[in-house]
Amino acid sequence: MIDLNHSVFVTGTDTGVGKTRVATLLLRQWAAQGLAVAGLKPVAAGAQLTPAGLRNDDALALASAASVLLPYSVINPCCLPQATAPHLAASAVGQRIDCGQLLSQCRAALAPLDRAVVEGAGGWLVPLAEPSQPGAPAPTLADLAVGLGLPVLVVVGVRLGCLNHALLTMAAIRSSGLPLAGWVGCVVDPTFDGIDDYRGALTQCLPAPCVGWVPWSP
Ligand SMILES: Nc1ncnc2c1ncn2[C@@H]1O[C@H](COP(=O)(O)OP(=O)(O)O)[C@@H](O)[C@H]1O
Ligand SMILES: [Mg+2]
Repeated sequence: MIDLNHSVFVTGTDTGVGKTRVATLLLRQWAAQGLAVAGLKPVAAGAQLTPAGLRNDDALALASAASVLLPYSVINPCCLPQATAPHLAASAVGQRIDCGQLLSQCRAALAPLDRAVVEGAGGWLVPLAEPSQPGAPAPTLADLAVGLGLPVLVVVGVRLGCLNHALLTMAAIRSSGLPLAGWVGCVVDPTFDGIDDYRGALTQCLPAPCVGWVPWSP
């Protein structure tokens, strides 16, 4: 059970930390309550070409956990083949991610839903486009989250280094002005022998409540 009853933007301490796992758990939980819910994956880098077009695994997982059937292009408006940073994946196919357009598409998709989960890509400050000049601030996924104005859920992949990554992520979210909805610990490495110690340390150190814990379950 994840103790949340409002829409969230889901970010994480890294890629591969359980964001999609947690997002689908939340969607299934809300769908079981009879709510009209769906997940969005605004930007996906890493996709397979199918007869229907490019498809990303996260977006398909979100679709299968939703109670509202949305067209694929609504769930995942920006789908790029290469599994790399979004702006590099876009550049590899001669595209540039239009953050303003992405924001309007996400707002329109969210409007009719009771609740939604919007899954980021990678971590909080993943760039979406090149900066206008070297060293200048580039648009990031955090800007998209700020535009959507959703509280942010941080998925912490429980492994060595996660305390630092979680603290850095939450500090950056706080400085964006968005509310922190809380964090969920997701056990992604069953061989890590500090799971219980880290659960305690995260609970003590993080400036937001733990709203769920996902044990290892292959
Ligand atoms: N609690 C867990 N137990 C077992 N496997 C997990 C768990 N959480 C995540 N995984 C697996 O780890 C991989 C990364 O998880 P995922 O949710 O896709 O991460 P992210 O969305 O942050 O990239 C996936 O293969 C997923 O099935
Ligand atoms: Mg994911």
